[in-house]
Amino acid sequence: MKAVILVGGEGTRLRPLTCNITKAMMPVLNKPFLEHLLAYLKRHGVTDIILAMSYLPHHIKDYFGDGAKTGVRLSYLIEEEPLGTAGAVKNAERYLDETFLMLNGDIFTDLDITAMINFHRERKAVATIAVTPVDDPTAYGLIETDAGGRITRFLEKPGWEEVTTNRINAGIYVLEPDILARIPPKKTVSIERETFQQLLARGKPMYAYSSTAYWLDMGTPEKYLRLNYDLLLGKAPSLFNATGGVQIGGGSQIDPSAKIEAPVLIGEGCVIGRGVKIKGPTVLGPECEIAEGASIEGAVLWNNVRVGKRAILRNCIAADHCQIHEASQVMDNCVLGDKVVVGKNNKLAQGTRIRPNKRIAPGSISS
Ligand code: GDD
Ligand code: MG
Repeated sequence: MKAVILVGGEGTRLRPLTCNITKAMMPVLNKPFLEHLLAYLKRHGVTDIILAMSYLPHHIKDYFGDGAKTGVRLSYLIEEEPLGTAGAVKNAERYLDETFLMLNGDIFTDLDITAMINFHRERKAVATIAVTPVDDPTAYGLIETDAGGRITRFLEKPGWEEVTTNRINAGIYVLEPDILARIPPKKTVSIERETFQQLLARGKPMYAYSSTAYWLDMGTPEKYLRLNYDLLLGKAPSLFNATGGVQIGGGSQIDPSAKIEAPVLIGEGCVIGRGVKIKGPTVLGPECEIAEGASIEGAVLWNNVRVGKRAILRNCIAADHCQIHEASQVMDNCVLGDKVVVGKNNKLAQGTRIRPNKRIAPGSISS
């Protein structure tokens, strides 16, 4: 079975992390997000995959090529202008002549796709949508069904007063190719807001496949941190074999006086100085340097991040080539874009987001 993965969104809510790369290429445990998704599909025997791209497509193509090193076969489609979720799959029509899968490219799950495909076939549905329970359905597409699981209503991003169920569209679909005939070509169309509503109005059989498997939409920096923590803490064991320990990449040098409290993943070629404290769950990308006496807890650092002496990082994200100088503090849910330089003696409070390449002068931010 073929799969179309939608990886064309701009990842607006994840800025500044998505200023220079797409959401699909953001590192999760030091591998691009999309690599995890491809491995998941491969485990279910789905190896013929079409990537529907728009925003910054070249990084994806350069990294994955024809897919061989990930064990899948990739085809690429680039939309000049984003075509929306239905427009993107319509654009892939020439590849799709039998039942196929469609996935949002920003979900992390171990939902049983094989069982979902069987469920779809048994019911002779035109569309089967995976649904999962969430605490806050207002950020998602709400799906109502009858007692037999047949979909009776879609409500995209409802207000709290409209919420009738906590089961939402999980962004995994099994679809029949006939539905593509209903989508106008070369137009921006939303499958959630338009195509599914039209199919429903025509009385077409659409079913919800319920799952309580691990599921997360990596839509915000908070969710991105949560995903890294969950995986390190072993909350999705079939997706990542968390050792619960400290994993250290080749060529890394750790001073014997450093205290590292699991679970921590350290990439290749890192240098950890004297008296450094690292408390998990924490991820250090390759080539990070942490100077003497610095303290890091619950952080995700990308490639080549430099942390100065006695700096403190807590529950934050720093993208490629950031520098946090001596005695500076970067606190809860702060997000630093690529190449941000935080001069010494600054204190970035909760939730601060700094755009790529910005240099913060020493001692200029104190709360
Ligand atoms: N190719 C292409 N073109 N891909 C797109 C486009 C486009 O124009 N617009 C969005 N995408 C991709 C995004 O990259 C993402 O992988 C996926 O489509 C969904 O877009 P999001 O922007 O992440 O949507 P959402 O998270 O707000 O809502 C969607 O996903 C939820 C589950 O995660 C909806 O499908 C909701 O109903 C659903 O609950
Ligand atoms: Mg999303």
